[in-house]
Amino acid sequence: MKIPGYGVLLFSLLHASSQVALADTDVIELTEENFSDKMAEGDWLVEIYAPWCSHCQQLEPTWRRLATELKGKVLVGKINGDQQPSLMQRFAIQGYPHICHMREGQMRDYAGDRSLEDLRHFAEKGWRQTRPQPFYRAPNSPAGLVLGKLLTLPHKGVQLHQYLRNVKKIPDLVLLLGFLAIPVTMGMCCICLLDAWYSRRPSAWVTPAPQHAHAH
Ligand SMILES: *[C@@H]1O[C@H](CO)[C@@H](O)[C@H](O)[C@H]1NC(C)=O
Repeated sequence: MKIPGYGVLLFSLLHASSQVALADTDVIELTEENFSDKMAEGDWLVEIYAPWCSHCQQLEPTWRRLATELKGKVLVGKINGDQQPSLMQRFAIQGYPHICHMREGQMRDYAGDRSLEDLRHFAEKGWRQTRPQPFYRAPNSPAGLVLGKLLTLPHKGVQLHQYLRNVKKIPDLVLLLGFLAIPVTMGMCCICLLDAWYSRRPSAWVTPAPQHAHAH
């Protein structure tokens, strides 16, 4: 019985090589935590995908080859929209997969064919013929990066609350008063600052009397 033996060997070889290919991908996975840092440098081609989307599954081998072929020139990334909902919200996407080019705070959406050749051409120079999205739409623009930080604040607040309550055993009432104290203190500081500003410059409220020009 030689054939089954070879069969098993062949199967395990194939299996092993597919495992290597899986581990060895040049596609860079981006998340909420590392998106901003990674966007700071380089040219990126990023795909936003969902594991259940069949067009994304079809694109996957192409995306891997693209990442390998563009290595050293353009960084090829992907964002799992299901796992990174708050990051995905910052892209106004119409559907999966969503492909865009990002560079120096500018974002350009890709609307062409999803073949290896077309994608590579877009990543290398085709993007120059595409108009960038306005800065407030681009999650990699300075405004977009600040917005991203703001969007994670509620989540951080919830984490902080859970930590203080469960780890530090601080009762909810004390926490509530503590959190209320923050806006109240900020409001009082604003009033003090405005007070100081206007009492230093009393003339700011006085409009000078209009000067009449002498007619000749
Ligand atoms: C970003 O973070 C995720 C999750 O921690 C990690 O799997 C991924 O490799 C990171 N990406 C980069 C480019 O560092």
